[in-house]
Amino acid sequence: MKKKVLFVCLGNICRSPLAEALFMKHVKERGLADKYMADSCGTESYHIGEQPDARSRANARENGLEYSHAARHLREEDYKEFDLIIPMDSSNQQFIEQHNSDKDAAVRLMRNYDTGYEGHDVPDPYYSGEEGFQNVFEILDRSTGALLDQLEE
Ligand code: 4NP
Repeated sequence: MKKKVLFVCLGNICRSPLAEALFMKHVKERGLADKYMADSCGTESYHIGEQPDARSRANARENGLEYSHAARHLREEDYKEFDLIIPMDSSNQQFIEQHNSDKDAAVRLMRNYDTGYEGHDVPDPYYSGEEGFQNVFEILDRSTGALLDQLEE
């Protein structure tokens, strides 16, 4: 059975859909597509059904990555369906843990896989300029690669 990883942020249009796409990029590059599946969702409902933020997608394209996702809210079933839930920041983590009553899925902060930045948030680029999106791309490329390293150990 595939290992299922769920990436979570606030709006599910900037950080978590990019984390999902970058994680799957690493999975495919390493020939592991039959071992993993990933999805993403948000803790807020502002952007349900929307594609990822145009600025995130433009930045990803400049870095050679095309991706697509329809924003959705975190669901009760996610705790049972996914093996691992990865919040982008500590407020997403708090929200997830408050609703994880049966402690089904393991919950780990994204940057706990980013050596030297354990416990840090993936900064929200929504109100930032171009450099904010590039910074998030680099953080997530590193962190999702390191997450896969650890899952493969
Ligand atoms: P995300 O970024 O949580 O990385 O998707 C945000 C998207 C939308 C909003 C805030 C953050 N918003 O306030 O609408």
